[in-house]
Amino acid sequence: MTTAADYTEKIPNNVSLHEDRRLQRALESWQPNFLSWWESMGPALPTRDVYLRTAVNVGRDGWAQFGFVPMRDYRWGIFLAEREPGRAIGFGEHKGEPAWDRVPGEYRSDLRRLIVVQGDTEPASVEQQRNLGATAPSLYDLRNLFQVNVEEGRHLWAMVYLLHAYFGRDGREEAEALLHRNSGSLESPRILGAFNEETPDWLSFYMFTYFTDRDGKYQLGTLKESAFDPLSRTCEFMLKEEAHHMMVGTTGIDRIVERTARLMTENDTDDVTGHGAIGLPVIQKYLNFHYSVSLDLFGGETSTNVANYYTAGLKGRWLEDRRRDDHKLTDDAFMVDTLTEDGDIGQTEVAALTGLNTDLRREYVADCQSGVNRWNKILADAGLPQRLRLPHVAFNRKVGAFAGIEASPAGERLSADDWEQRQGEWLPTDVDKTYVRSLMQPVHERGKIAAWIAPPRHGINGKPFDYDYVHLA
Ligand SMILES: [Fe+2]
Ligand SMILES: [Fe+2]
Repeated sequence: MTTAADYTEKIPNNVSLHEDRRLQRALESWQPNFLSWWESMGPALPTRDVYLRTAVNVGRDGWAQFGFVPMRDYRWGIFLAEREPGRAIGFGEHKGEPAWDRVPGEYRSDLRRLIVVQGDTEPASVEQQRNLGATAPSLYDLRNLFQVNVEEGRHLWAMVYLLHAYFGRDGREEAEALLHRNSGSLESPRILGAFNEETPDWLSFYMFTYFTDRDGKYQLGTLKESAFDPLSRTCEFMLKEEAHHMMVGTTGIDRIVERTARLMTENDTDDVTGHGAIGLPVIQKYLNFHYSVSLDLFGGETSTNVANYYTAGLKGRWLEDRRRDDHKLTDDAFMVDTLTEDGDIGQTEVAALTGLNTDLRREYVADCQSGVNRWNKILADAGLPQRLRLPHVAFNRKVGAFAGIEASPAGERLSADDWEQRQGEWLPTDVDKTYVRSLMQPVHERGKIAAWIAPPRHGINGKPFDYDYVHLA
């Protein structure tokens, strides 16, 4: 059964919003607040219109439309994936029972918290990327930035819908607070650390969309398993849009590595700064930073909260239905990273339920490695011996077992003094950041591209690279 999207309404949706006047009114009164947030915290570069994808339905064929839209008039809508008839809970103590259409009272505050934490990340990234338009390397890249921005805005709508529809007055208050907190704000920052970091340049943007958006993919993957069916269906549809964000990050770094590799071979040098490109050591440092702050987003190696969420059926594992175990895990054990009694970096066995953060982080790490392999293939194909690598999980951590120690990217423990002296070898220094920023000169001319990045192989929706993806104001 598909509910067709209703586009005649103020808020496009496939949740029959018109049948619930109170909810509709509540969301319609949140809408102007969202729009003024978008105006003041969203993309700063003035544009007339942008070639954007808009979600119009959730069906297998044709869920999105492409066309030029003024961003302020983007149709941010509410879309849940189709209901799976007779869906049963897939894990935890309620395994096999029917999925929930309502929020059970005993899990209300935990579910609300999970939705708020997820919801908080969506507008945060828009805020972090607010000023990037001014330095876009091409109109194609500019369009992709704006596509990611409007979709993160829609993901905020997705979470706000759940808060309004299922959590009453406190849900409405949380929806307001999602617009009130701001990335990097001293008084009311965003909830998670990585979402308060700056995204001041496009190398950071691609690293963010590769590593930090990918955390989002894994979090959404666990919420898609939820016994709370509306949350599950919301996340399933959001994952569809996230695939594009992953593509932007993956191919963005591909193209930077490709350009650098080309200049290295053409000029027979490792130092490409004279050619206006970004050297591999700087790329590695940015990778180290974004990867390590993204690892922190998965929380501590062990967590009793997350064990409880799993047992209750609120949050599952990545690809829960492909796991070959009892989906309850009450008798299972799991190895997690730890600091041993001697202060060494090692592993220890814990109850599988408390190790679920580590389980999810490992899935994520394996996925991140596939990107590194791609970039290394570009280097190998260019005949270069250099390689990029993921740093050790203990490197530069602020959350979890290794938060209190310092470690090198190779995983050796360091004294605080050693770290102080050597961190500039591994993390971007002010000199690196200033250099990268100096390259960020806007290329807003059709078909042109900045010197530090290669053009993409394909355009968007079958259009060529030199299409006029964005009309500036
Ligand atoms: Fe998102
Ligand atoms: Fe995203």
